[in-house]
Parts: sequence; C-alpha cells; structure tokens
Amino acid sequence: MNKNKNFKWGVTISAAQTEGAYDKDGKGFSIWDTFTQKRYKIKDRSNARIATDFYHKYKEDIDCAVDIGLQIFRFSISWARILPEGFGKINSKGIEFYNKVIDYCLEVGIEPWITTYHWDLPQKLQDKGGWCNRDVVDWYATYVAILRDNYADRVKYWILINEGIVCMGAGYFLGVHAPGKRGIDNFLSSVHHILLAQAEGFRVLKEKEGLQVGTALSCTKIEAYRNTNADQKAVNRIDALMNRLFIEPHLGMGYPHEDLPILKRIPKYYKEEDLETLKVDFDFLGIQTYTRQIVKSAWYVPYLGVMQVKPKKRNVETSIMGWETYPEGTQYFLERFSTYNPEKPLWLSECGIALSDKEDDQKRIDYYKKVIDLTKSVMDKGINVKGILLWTLVDNFEWAEGYIPKFGIISLNRNTLQRQMKKSAIWLKKYIKE
Ligand code: NOJ
Repeated sequence: MNKNKNFKWGVTISAAQTEGAYDKDGKGFSIWDTFTQKRYKIKDRSNARIATDFYHKYKEDIDCAVDIGLQIFRFSISWARILPEGFGKINSKGIEFYNKVIDYCLEVGIEPWITTYHWDLPQKLQDKGGWCNRDVVDWYATYVAILRDNYADRVKYWILINEGIVCMGAGYFLGVHAPGKRGIDNFLSSVHHILLAQAEGFRVLKEKEGLQVGTALSCTKIEAYRNTNADQKAVNRIDALMNRLFIEPHLGMGYPHEDLPILKRIPKYYKEEDLETLKVDFDFLGIQTYTRQIVKSAWYVPYLGVMQVKPKKRNVETSIMGWETYPEGTQYFLERFSTYNPEKPLWLSECGIALSDKEDDQKRIDYYKKVIDLTKSVMDKGINVKGILLWTLVDNFEWAEGYIPKFGIISLNRNTLQRQMKKSAIWLKKYIKE
C-alpha cells in the first residue's frame, strides 16, 4: 500500500502524555495533573509534569516524523491549556502554542490532525462533577467552538473523543485512571454525557465547511473461553460494552442494552430528545486496537457477570502491558466496522505494541509488518481504509503504567530528553520510501 499514493502514514500523540509544561504559560491543572499527585496510583510513581517535553521540543519531533516519511501528525489539545478554568477566560498563550505546532507542521510538509479530547479534563470542571455533570455537554461544545475558530482554517481532519470507553471505564468505573471515580452511576452518566458532548462537538465543527470530523474507537476482540451459551452471552455483554457502546448510539441504533442489560439504567440520565441528539454522521471512523480478551460467564461479578481469563493463564504471547499481542484485531475490526456503512472511510488512527526496555525492537517491526499485511488483505476486499497512524512517536507517559511500557519508535532519555530513533523507525523510514 505504500505504492498506493492515496494511502497515508502518520503518527498519533496526546497532550497529557507528551507535552509536560504542566503549569507553564497559564495552563490550568488537568485531572491527570491531580491524579498523579497520588503517586501510588502510577506504577513507577511518576507523573507527566515534564513527560517528553513536547511543549518545548515539538519542532524536533515533527522534524523527525517528516524525516521518517510520515504524512500525518495527529496531536491532541489540552483543554486546560486553552481554558484553564474549563470555560470562560481563554488563555492566549495556549492558543498560541497550538498555532505554532500547526504552522510548523504545514511549514515542513506534514498534515496536522487535531484530537479535541484525549482524557485530560480540566480539574476545575472535575470539581463540578466532570463528565458526570450534564453541563459538560455545553462546556465541551464551547471549547470545541474555540478550537474551530482558531484552528479550522488550517486543520481539516478532526477527531472528537479519543477512546471514550477507556477513559470512562478506567476513569469513572474502575477508578484506575483520572479522575479515579468508581461505580455504575458515575460510569453510566459520564458515558451518556460524553456521547452527547461528542455529538454536539460534531455539529459545532461541521458549521465550518470542508472539515472531516470523526471519532477514535478503542476496539478489543472478545471471544468465549468455553463453548457454552453462558460464555457466549458473556461475550455479547462485553462486546456491547467495549465495541458498540461508543458508536451505535451515534449511528441512530440506540444503546446496545439488549446484549448488555445494565445499560437499561441509562435513561435515568436522559432527556427525551437525547437519542435523537446523539445521532451524527461521522465523516470517518478511527479504529484503535491492541489486544484480544477471552472471557467467561461469572455470575458473582457485579453488573457485567463476566470474568476475563488472563492471557498469562492462556500461555499466549503478551506485551509488557499484560495484553495478548493480537495484530489480527486490525483485520477483524476494519472488516467489522466497514459493515456499519461501507462508504465511510476507516483509519487505523492508532496502532502499536509496547515493549520493555530490555526487549529487542525487532518485535515492534514484526508487529507492524503483520498489521501492514492484514490491512492490505482488508483493502484487497475493497474496504475503504485510508491510512495507518502509529502509536506512537516518542516513548511517553503511559497513564497508570507510567514510563515502563515503551510504545514509541523513538526512545527518550528522561534525564537529558534526548531522542533516538529505534530500529523500527529506521525500518519504517525505509519501508515508506520504497
Ligand atoms: C490508546 C490511547 O489512546 C493512548 O493514550 C494509549 O497510550 C495507547 N492506547 C496505549 O495504551
């Protein structure tokens, strides 16, 4: 597909994982700045106050992406850098920073893509209930309008919410990500509100002609442990949760409550017209998949009645994340999501593998080679796949896992902040240019 001129290669990064400069030039605290203060929440007791220092090193990173031959640079905006209070007064230094990033991308010939939300809600909004407070729909729409008015003259591709199920599941149900909330009420209300917010954000962006606006979905292949009815139903529940909840309400299909009965409680947070409001016609879908889960029915697990059979118990290859290495998911999800609407372009808007410091980077090359072959086979079936964005450029702050897993094709010396291309970056450069 590198021979196919329309096929694009790019990279994805996010603000909270890379920028650092957490309190510089008027930026407000995000929920991750607060969450990481509880050091025990992060595996290596680290935080993202400096991270990769993208705030100061953006030129170097963008140059590197260009040198490798990447054509798309997808980055996210820190809401609290633009609006330190979450709404109200705009921080001009924040606006200016992303102007510099966008302009530099254009200057050196790489296309900037914006993600509006990659998990770093302003703390001030969390203090008012965050995603559990329905007012967040307006806060988000106002924020997106500011981004549109400042950046949409130069940025054509926009991704609204990145992996909603992960940030709501880990942040508002399990409490293992910021803001560390737990429980079914927090989860269901935050899910409904972030979906509504995404729908409103879509309309706000589409007021400007010519924009391509999509969403980025976390996708995990779910399979049954045993060949029983009970396990198959368990698969359906988790599949509805992980792979359908963040797309089907937008497509006018409603919440997948038939397979996941706990969702029947969502109407508690509805207004009547909400199901209609949720409908949007995304210009494209971003697929992001890393692993597969094998599950079995477990009556004693609240709300879901499902247990995961851990990869370690199944003797399969796992990454340092503890995830089964499963590049085959790319093929499965590209094919599956193309059936929603075969006309709509699909992107692999993230894809990659985490390695430890000690592992040979050849593993990453092998992983990407498999993804490429699988994507080719999907495209051979006539499915409209537009490109692959790697996760990620420089090793960065992997949320609650700290800096232990390395997802980058470029390594980072955290003392000197020096970057160095790994074998995989050199291989990719050659592959793209061939
Ligand atoms: C998905 C998320 O969007 C990103 O922030 C994260 O680092 C990678 N997956 C790897 O876990």
